[in-house]
Amino acid sequence: MTSIIVHGGAGTYSPGAEHEKALAQACEAAARVLASGGSACDAAVEATVLMENAPVLNAGYGSSLNLNGEVENDAAIMLDDMSCGSVAALHGFANPILAARYVMERTDHVLLVGCGADAFARHAGLVERDQRSPARIERYRRARAKLERGEDIHFMPRLRAFYDELRNDPDWDGERDPESGTVGIVVRDESGRIAAASSTGGMMLKLPGRVGDTGVIGAGTYCDCRGGVSATGHGEPVIRHGMGRALVEAFADVGAAGAMARVMRTACDESFEFGLIGIDATGDVAIGYSTQAMSWAAFEDGVLRTFLSHPIPRST
Ligand code: GLY
Repeated sequence: MTSIIVHGGAGTYSPGAEHEKALAQACEAAARVLASGGSACDAAVEATVLMENAPVLNAGYGSSLNLNGEVENDAAIMLDDMSCGSVAALHGFANPILAARYVMERTDHVLLVGCGADAFARHAGLVERDQRSPARIERYRRARAKLERGEDIHFMPRLRAFYDELRNDPDWDGERDPESGTVGIVVRDESGRIAAASSTGGMMLKLPGRVGDTGVIGAGTYCDCRGGVSATGHGEPVIRHGMGRALVEAFADVGAAGAMARVMRTACDESFEFGLIGIDATGDVAIGYSTQAMSWAAFEDGVLRTFLSHPIPRST
């Protein structure tokens, strides 16, 4: 059985028709790659490139901006034979997932970061591009103004106090509604091969150099012969709890639906804000999120389904 699932992020945003279109196109592109004999890896990369190119999603062009108003991208890919590659804090490349694939296929390493990752991507001949879209710049301005007014930033309660320190630091050369949308995909092809991939601009106003869960194998991206997972949402708890690997381990015990229920119970007990998609070794798909909104599309048995959950007002 062929199964494909993609997500466009979990968080507090309102997914609309553009999200749905971008996710449906990514899912269909992955299905076409498989139908023409491509591997699960090829399908996952093709779909991720499309999502990175969609300005409405927080990955590639249209990524969230860090505290300095710059984009730093994280991306990872992993296959069921445990080969994997990732990049973090990558600057100015159109498709970070291609750099992650290149790390997997051409190096002895798993993760390259910062200027090393930039030099590597340049050497690979990857297309360079300013990833800041006008819409993200506007959101950044609004979020920065909030910080200047002394308001707290969601997910980063320590940032306000730290920001005051940074402003008075002569070595800090940066200009002085987080969003945690990320994109991800899990694919299982007819022969049972599985691939998981994720890509993100990370959290709005993150400190330069911050690496989220997306590029951390075992956290935001994980795959082995038991299944594959991509996570989205608040990256720090996803890293602390190794969510991607935890879900795949649970797949082997209780199958896709049972595993997702188990992992989501922990998340809800701890009030984490995140979402997960996964496919187990049999091709069963699982989706879970603890946030107000999450968008995804799935292709199973030749049928495309899309889902956009809209923010529900939280009870006070
Ligand atoms: N989940 C994306 C991030 O926290 O960077």
